[in-house]
Amino acid sequence: MLNTVGNTPLVKLIKINQFPNIDIFVKLEFLNPSGSIKDRIVQYIIDDAEKSGELKPGGVIVENTSGNTGAAVAMNAAIRGYKAILTMPDKVSKEKQDALKAYGAKVVVTPTSAAPDSPEHYVNTARRIAAETPNSFMINQYDNKKNPLAHYLSTGPEIWEQTKGAVTHFVASGSTGGTVTGISKYLKEQNPEVFTLLADPVGSIYYKYFKTGEIDNDEIGTYQVEGVGEDHIAKAMDFSQVDDMIQFTDQDAFSMARLLAREEGVFGGGTGGANVWAALKLAATLKGPATIVTVIPDNGVKYMSKFYNDDWMIANGHSID
Ligand SMILES: Cc1ncc(COP(=O)(O)O)c(C=O)c1O
Repeated sequence: MLNTVGNTPLVKLIKINQFPNIDIFVKLEFLNPSGSIKDRIVQYIIDDAEKSGELKPGGVIVENTSGNTGAAVAMNAAIRGYKAILTMPDKVSKEKQDALKAYGAKVVVTPTSAAPDSPEHYVNTARRIAAETPNSFMINQYDNKKNPLAHYLSTGPEIWEQTKGAVTHFVASGSTGGTVTGISKYLKEQNPEVFTLLADPVGSIYYKYFKTGEIDNDEIGTYQVEGVGEDHIAKAMDFSQVDDMIQFTDQDAFSMARLLAREEGVFGGGTGGANVWAALKLAATLKGPATIVTVIPDNGVKYMSKFYNDDWMIANGHSID
């Protein structure tokens, strides 16, 4: 199983890209074994912790997660013989919560509304559990520099090779920032002209922080896209790798994810929709020729009870075009 992580396909969007001279490619990260891009960072961090002795036989891996890192941790724990305890906010889809249990992990659900400094916040809950649990190890995805390093060493080189060095623009949304930081650093080292656009949901603090340098807690709002945007600045995020940012809404992300499934057969999560939405907005500003690359971070099956369900879309005030 561990040998099946990475080396994901890169496919060209044909029907929804109307811009001549501009190619848009999506990297199918949902084809990783636990269904997301997070298999890459979790495998790298656990390999490293085993080598350094930080993670010992019989150890307990603890992590805060919006579900995908948790699935990767739970899968790794099952394969390698560790216990896994994972905290997640209650906005995370039931499918994602249940997947962790299927791998044998213990799941602790916390209120999404808990403030970043509250003990009930899912990150603080994970830290407390790790402190109270003997022989525990935290992946610490938000602040662990090995998170972007995993992408620098695997996803970045794969994109460079798969485009034969033709990539001119990289687009991603971010939470820990591992994806955007590690991939951009690698691509810019190969070609300093590569331009990186970071997409951010309305309700996250990253966009204003990038534009003004201010951490404005008034920006924090609820949104339904799972896994990107933040209410705090993650240390794994390096904004010096980002050239510009764009904000998106839940509707932008969900409509594009649904369209990608219908038109291109690419059945991804909401952040894949957001990334392609942002790639098309970027394409509209370019004269071309250009080669834009983005990622589809996780699998659409994880959201069957949410934005792939018409009743859920309508009940939550979204249109189902
Ligand atoms: C669905 C989804 N997309 C995108 C991301 C963002 O990736 P990163 O944490 O590397 O910024 C995450 C992270 O949790 C995610 O779960």
